[in-house]
Amino acid sequence: MAIFSKKTKTEDAKFEVLPTHLGIIMDGNGRWAKKRGLPRSAGHKAGANVFRTISDECANLGIKYVTFYAFSTENWKRPKEEVDALMSLFKDYLLEAKADMVKAGNNKIKFIGERDGISAELLKLMDEAEEETASHTGTTVYLAVNYGGRQEIVSAVNALIKEGKEEINEKDISDNIYTYPECDLIIRPSGEQRLSNFLLWQAAYSEFWYSDVLWPDFKKEDLYKALSDFESRNRRFGA
Ligand code: FPP
Repeated sequence: MAIFSKKTKTEDAKFEVLPTHLGIIMDGNGRWAKKRGLPRSAGHKAGANVFRTISDECANLGIKYVTFYAFSTENWKRPKEEVDALMSLFKDYLLEAKADMVKAGNNKIKFIGERDGISAELLKLMDEAEEETASHTGTTVYLAVNYGGRQEIVSAVNALIKEGKEEINEKDISDNIYTYPECDLIIRPSGEQRLSNFLLWQAAYSEFWYSDVLWPDFKKEDLYKALSDFESRNRRFGA
């Protein structure tokens, strides 16, 4: 009997259609830690390792841009201990990348978000990582840190006002936000189905893919599931 089912591609499979820009909301770290009786910081630490695996895999697959939501403008409201733990994970990752640029591969590292509020030490590491990987030609890995989609649009409009613009169009905004490849697919694990102020402008025609898996448990196979599903979507862009 023929079974017509959507197949999930495996590691060696080539995808015919890949998102040019993939967005990932790394959610569920807190719940993952709670289930194990661990502090939330342990969930973020496990999540940071998954970030490494998944960003490498996006590069292997040849995805051009991938944006990870790592810290929102609202996340400052979390307990200081948790905020410090997250900042320390960003620092560790950047120190690692600095010490071993080979490991960073051909990826370009970029940050999107407000610089205000981030320590001078971390800002320096962020700038260095951007500079050192600027000539790389592989996947651009955007890390959204102190990022909010509304704030991104407001900053763009303020920049245009400063330029003396009296009337603006969509292209003006697109040219003045942090990153403007349209986002083709947004992955959100952990069972939540909302955008949470992520890539508001770029997500106008994004496809969404949700999963109940908590981010620290997210595997390459989950990425393949999302990409296999994306391949089968019929995107009409309003036409
Ligand atoms: C949301 O889950 C996750 C965050 C606020 C932080 C995401 C950051 C990381 C995974 C670390 C990234 C590290 C590097 C090096 C890029 P949550 O804590 O709100 O989970 P919950 O909803 O289960 O409480």
